[in-house]
Amino acid sequence: MIKKAYEKYLLPKLLDKCCSTKPINYQRNKIVPNAKGTVLEIGIGSGLNIPFYNKREINKVYGLDPSAELCEMAIKTAKDNQIDVNILINGAEEIKLASNTIDSVLITYTLCSIPNFNDALKEIKRVMKSDGNIFFCEHGIAPDPKIKKWQNRINPLWSKLFGGCNINRDIPFIINEAGFEFKSLQQMYLPSTPKIVGYNYWGVASI
Ligand SMILES: C[S@@+](CC[C@H](N)C(=O)[O-])C[C@H]1O[C@@H](n2cnc3c(N)ncnc32)[C@H](O)[C@@H]1O
Repeated sequence: MIKKAYEKYLLPKLLDKCCSTKPINYQRNKIVPNAKGTVLEIGIGSGLNIPFYNKREINKVYGLDPSAELCEMAIKTAKDNQIDVNILINGAEEIKLASNTIDSVLITYTLCSIPNFNDALKEIKRVMKSDGNIFFCEHGIAPDPKIKKWQNRINPLWSKLFGGCNINRDIPFIINEAGFEFKSLQQMYLPSTPKIVGYNYWGVASI
């Protein structure tokens, strides 16, 4: 019962706060404005990417997230920014959209939290047009052995506190193994961010 109350009332606000730091917003600005056409945002959360969309480039936006509370927050942000977002309350392991319909998939700070990321990436591949792109920015496993060791140590507790977020996923490997190719891939520690959660991977991938 305490867990449920935590996830319903506290966690959405905590995620919103933790994901809206200056360095993270700087990352959003590198990725989000590239989305164009029919866009599917995986794990839209509280809608922190919405202000970064390039309105002139987008036709339709779908925002998917299993958390009804976070979707409520995203709807408000969308309204405030005058963007029409079609919300799908569901996990990305099952995307209730037709195949071959999405031009741009946007995914930021979410691959860490999807329990079955392989199924999710299969679904993403299914709904994407053959010339579509995934625009991504994720935190993940760090290259330094010492940091990596701490990521692996802390991950079980971290995951319990932060809604299933894993700090030690190998993001490029996961995307690549699912059959996507990188058009661009960059990585670095975000400034002013604890290193165990601050190693970012971002770029563009396609089928
Ligand atoms: C750290 S938050 C990031 C939210 C948002 N993408 C952002 O950049 O601020 C992780 C998000 O993943 C979502 N999530 C968890 N499980 C998921 C799943 N199976 N499919 C899609 N999203 C999921 C959570 O509800 C949450 O909104």
